[in-house]
Amino acid sequence: MGLVVAVTGAGSGLGRALAVRLAADGTRLILVGRRAGRLRETRDACVAGGGKAGDIVELPLDLTGPDAAAAVAEAATTAFDGLDALVNNAAQARFGALDRTGMATFAGLLQVNLVAPAALSQAVAPLLRRSRGTIVNVGSIGGLLAVPGRSYYGAAKAGLHHLTRSLARELAPDIRVNAVLPGAVDTEMYDDLGIDDDDVARLRTEMVRTTPLGRMGRPEDVVPWIVMLLGPAAAWMTGSLLVVDGGRSC
Ligand SMILES: NC(=O)c1ccc[n+]([C@@H]2O[C@H](COP(=O)([O-])OP(=O)(O)OC[C@H]3O[C@@H](n4cnc5c(N)ncnc54)[C@H](OP(=O)(O)O)[C@@H]3O)[C@@H](O)[C@H]2O)c1
Repeated sequence: MGLVVAVTGAGSGLGRALAVRLAADGTRLILVGRRAGRLRETRDACVAGGGKAGDIVELPLDLTGPDAAAAVAEAATTAFDGLDALVNNAAQARFGALDRTGMATFAGLLQVNLVAPAALSQAVAPLLRRSRGTIVNVGSIGGLLAVPGRSYYGAAKAGLHHLTRSLARELAPDIRVNAVLPGAVDTEMYDDLGIDDDDVARLRTEMVRTTPLGRMGRPEDVVPWIVMLLGPAAAWMTGSLLVVDGGRSC
């Protein structure tokens, strides 16, 4: 039987590409995200790539809801009698300068990008202890770089990086906790940054210009490193923040 992995934000971008890759390897999946239609598309892509429909559970929910974390643990128990890994990939990105961004926006980012991964980690920890499983958080080099106009997103991701390192110690030796920190990856995230289209176009140009390898990443550039952290090659890794960014942060 394949591993059981819960992937949040599985309806698009990195989360979808990861799910498709894991399904092809025989992994049993819990796909989490708000839009049921997008999760169904991911499930169909997983099946087209060799996964079994019966090995995939779609769980449409808002991770900021009070019962969301418990629902993920419950789904893993009901469908697969356990869980081997959690990938905290879901996130929101909002850019904007200090004087033009309200605290409600910051609080919303923190809920999705930091509180929800913590709540999920807490809810599934008993299952992961049983399986001696693993958590992979998807951070961002935005949590390493200090860039004007991106402080809230960066602060939320920096918090996630710290959570990764702290929980790695707290949950060892039973559960390994690591993070992948992507650079600029071409996904739908760029369609919903809270800035106007001209600024998005400028941002894309800047991302390419400041990335030594000369292009934005593709989900497929990042997915193998998440898969590596989930698997036996990372048996002696915990608390690691793995940068995959085309050199942008170096
Ligand atoms: N793209 C980049 O340049 C880049 C760079 C560094 C790090 N990252 C990180 O990579 C991860 C994946 O992002 P992506 O680029 O693949 O962007 P994406 O396509 O926008 O994926 C984000 C996913 O999160 C889900 N989500 C958002 N809020 C949610 C909520 N409240 N409850 C449940 N699900 C929620 C969204 O699905 P629904 O809307 O259906 O809920 C969506 O599928 C994120 O952690 C992001 O911060 C991305």
